[in-house]
Amino acid sequence: MSDIFTPKRIGQLEVKNRLMRSATAERLVDKDGVVTDDLLAYYKTLAKGGVGTIVTGYTAVDPQGRSGWQMMAIYSDNYIKGLQGLTNIVHQYDTKIIVQLNHCGRYSAGALIGTNPLAVSASHEEIKGEFPPREATESQIKDVIRAFVVSAERAREAGFDGVQIHAAHGYLVSQFLSPRTNKRTDQWGGGIENRSRFLMEIIKQTRQKLGADFPIWIKTNCEDFIDGGLTLSDSINVIKYLIENKAEPDAIEISGGVTFDTVIRKDVLSPEKEAYFLPQAETFRRTYPNIPLILVGGIRSYEIMEKVVGEKKMDLVAMSRPFIRDPNFPLSLQKTCRGVRTDAPTTCISCNLCLGMKKEPVRCRASENPITKISATRS
Ligand SMILES: Cc1cc2nc3c(=O)[nH]c(=O)nc-3n(C[C@H](O)[C@H](O)[C@H](O)COP(=O)(O)O)c2cc1C
Repeated sequence: MSDIFTPKRIGQLEVKNRLMRSATAERLVDKDGVVTDDLLAYYKTLAKGGVGTIVTGYTAVDPQGRSGWQMMAIYSDNYIKGLQGLTNIVHQYDTKIIVQLNHCGRYSAGALIGTNPLAVSASHEEIKGEFPPREATESQIKDVIRAFVVSAERAREAGFDGVQIHAAHGYLVSQFLSPRTNKRTDQWGGGIENRSRFLMEIIKQTRQKLGADFPIWIKTNCEDFIDGGLTLSDSINVIKYLIENKAEPDAIEISGGVTFDTVIRKDVLSPEKEAYFLPQAETFRRTYPNIPLILVGGIRSYEIMEKVVGEKKMDLVAMSRPFIRDPNFPLSLQKTCRGVRTDAPTTCISCNLCLGMKKEPVRCRASENPITKISATRS
């Protein structure tokens, strides 16, 4: 019996299989971040395609935390109705849907938000241009924490099965965690406990507001893979601090890196290159045997998926690019139970051409199969 097609309890949630669509900003919202018909059609296709859990693309909790025009938004009650459309469609197929909550911090687009982006610390040599980041004051930090909490309330109202706090990839929460970007000397900076305080407060206050039943997941970096960034031992200690402060997440998705070439690695074309954060994830598993863990990053073949959930004891395997290539692949995989890689037309070749689409909806350019077109033909 295949492990990946068995149901699993992840904290309060029962998911029908071990496959998850990792957060992917599809750029299928309108310029105000509102869900469009194309996004609804794509989520219908994904859910029909057999995936157990979908995490939405990153979704702005604060208008000042947007990276571009096509970032989904949840920072006002006006967004709830559109988001309800998404959860309704996905739930028709017994698929769970989690919204990823994010503030881009220093990567927020100054030209869009009309001011200097809010960041954990002021300007950094890597951020150039007209709008250098500015250091958040104590009261601005508290406002952003509140924005996450209120957004989680809206998420529940919109019917999401939970929220995932984006604490990875160099956005605001990750900026707080990293000693490379967090240069503060107050209670929000310095040692790993102070650097984790922002994430801890978001989880703790969300739980206080929404109760223990509402799932709060995080996506975190196992390492930043950059000089002076978060190390594996740091990221293990972040979780320790969360647990000690009664802010244990209900599931942890393990990612890594703060640059495209480390987060979204190219040319994953052999089993040895797959599951590229697995060694670090095994340390998480040994240290935290009872927390549900989800692994993302270069998972491609059926054999590796089975190994990751079977032998390596991860609870779910998460993928992004394979779902851009073929949102239907779980059903095909279930039918054949053969390696995805041997199923040549549907295999993501990690060429990363999907990342080069600046303003257009994300699509697989290797197959030249726009996701909007796929949606239209399959709905
Ligand atoms: C087009 C695209 C958009 C992405 N958007 C997000 C996002 O909104 N939030 C996030 O946490 N990760 C995002 N990612 C990263 C993926 O979730 C995932 O961590 C990464 O692509 C590695 O997994 P993969 O090898 O299965 O693609 C995105 C990746 C791609 C290719």
